[in-house]
Amino acid sequence: MPSSLVSPHGGLLLDLMASKKRAAELKTQSREMPSWSLQPRQLADLELLLSGAFSPLQGFMARSDDDGVRGDMKLADGTFWPTPVTLEVTAEVGESLERGGSLALRDVEGTLLAVLKVEEAWTPDREGEAPSGPTCVGGKLEGVEAPHHYDFVERRATPAELRGQFSKWGWQRIAAFHTTSALHRAEQEMTFAAARDLEATLLVQLGVARTDYYDVSHYSRIRCVEAVMRIYPRHTAHLNLLSLAARNAGPREVLLNALVAQNYGCSHYLIRSTTPGGEDAVKKGTALEIELARTPERVYLPDGAGFVAEDAVPKGAEVKTLTPAELADRLAFGREIPEWFSFPEVVRELRRASPPRSRQGFTVFFSGLPSSGKSTLANVLLVKLLERGGRPVTILDGDIVRKNLSSELGFSREHRNLNIARIGFVASEITKNGGIAICAPIAPFDPVRKDVRAMIEPGGGFLLVHVSTPVEVCEKRDRKGLYAKARAGIIKEFTGISDPYDVPEDAGMTIDTTERNPEECVQAILLHLEKEGYIGRPQNENGA
Ligand code: PPS
Repeated sequence: MPSSLVSPHGGLLLDLMASKKRAAELKTQSREMPSWSLQPRQLADLELLLSGAFSPLQGFMARSDDDGVRGDMKLADGTFWPTPVTLEVTAEVGESLERGGSLALRDVEGTLLAVLKVEEAWTPDREGEAPSGPTCVGGKLEGVEAPHHYDFVERRATPAELRGQFSKWGWQRIAAFHTTSALHRAEQEMTFAAARDLEATLLVQLGVARTDYYDVSHYSRIRCVEAVMRIYPRHTAHLNLLSLAARNAGPREVLLNALVAQNYGCSHYLIRSTTPGGEDAVKKGTALEIELARTPERVYLPDGAGFVAEDAVPKGAEVKTLTPAELADRLAFGREIPEWFSFPEVVRELRRASPPRSRQGFTVFFSGLPSSGKSTLANVLLVKLLERGGRPVTILDGDIVRKNLSSELGFSREHRNLNIARIGFVASEITKNGGIAICAPIAPFDPVRKDVRAMIEPGGGFLLVHVSTPVEVCEKRDRKGLYAKARAGIIKEFTGISDPYDVPEDAGMTIDTTERNPEECVQAILLHLEKEGYIGRPQNENGA
């Protein structure tokens, strides 16, 4: 179709998908090929390669391209390219490849997505990386099946599709704004004004490559941006989702985003004045046909002027801003989010995705020596939380778990770790679904405790309480007579006597029960949870 849109980078918009017939041939041939199951980031790169969003790349980079790009941002043929797009496989898969051979690229379920014709396989000798590290494989791609998405399908256009739509709508001057997070009033004002000043329409490119399909923030982020799109005047702005993996590459990343925007048909690329390396990107960006335009951030003037460009603030004027950390804090504690900062639809969406801590689940994880008082504290805490009401509470005491979940396990390091990992998994499910889990195993080893924390924190709160009662006191208590048996050598590998206990350095609280009664100890825990916002009334639940 004749088009007055900006040309794709390198002049030609590629489509690496094979014909139906060829795809069927490749599927048959792939049975004999070595296979690689793509990691989420690689899958995102493959999607952009196949759709032509990375034109003129015809596949993953070979060594000479990779070297050239890392050096002065040039492919081996001299074409400008800002960041490496390489495919790393394990050394084992790398060894099975030969030049001219093929590698079947599959998704995690094993579906064949593309075949790579191996041009080169090499072990990069990069500074700080082990020489026995992964192998890079470069070569041209033939697409068999584009990576499939089930969410927001109507928002995911290929460059060819979007160019077609732009032509149909009569859009020629189009300013792209790339983001990975929700937009608020400042960003809406900034993008609207920037596009208007350029006499362009706006394409919001939302980067949505992700690693976790159950991450609810992904869906809520997209819904937030969709809500803001309705604020722009009709026919002036469009939203497109892009599986562009974050690279943390400063100006090089800005340039890659701009290059992709050019391939999608955009004539301008907006760079926020706060983007790190923005100035460098503009300098280097002259190698692209898309025009990179820096645009000043907007700040809010409460005296009635509303949002103005930061470089146009009258001297001495009071300005209002809300940092991402402040926003997160307000959400966590259910505090007010000012009307000037965001749109009601966006705030509602954010509150749905991040309810205040007082409505999130959490885990209290006690760890300590046998007879240190873990179970007693756990049971008193259970009663106190049930007395308050609200969320369901589950107790995962060492003994209960060993009877019901881990009955086949002993006390070797391996078995203890498995036991704690199981407790962590159950607690993370409870927490994620808004409940309270109280765990009280010995959990003597630090690495697995850290794994448990990492499993739980994304879904709610996690408080590690080290019950630090000294071993002499525990032994004197010896509630089950096990210390005596351990001393007599009847029980082997007994924690505190003949087996180690890693004292936690990351405990949120440390409680020695020697001189304090359980009520006092639990009161301290409740006060801590209240301070952190997990229990008690949030200060203000406006709009929640
Ligand atoms: S672990 O290390 O976290 O998997 O242990 P846990 O599941 O909490 O189980 C600890 C309880 O098992 C009893 N027991 C032993 N503890 C430590 N070492 C050995 N060898 C051992 N053998 C049996 C002991 O009663 C622990 O109970 P608590 O409640 O901690 O006193």
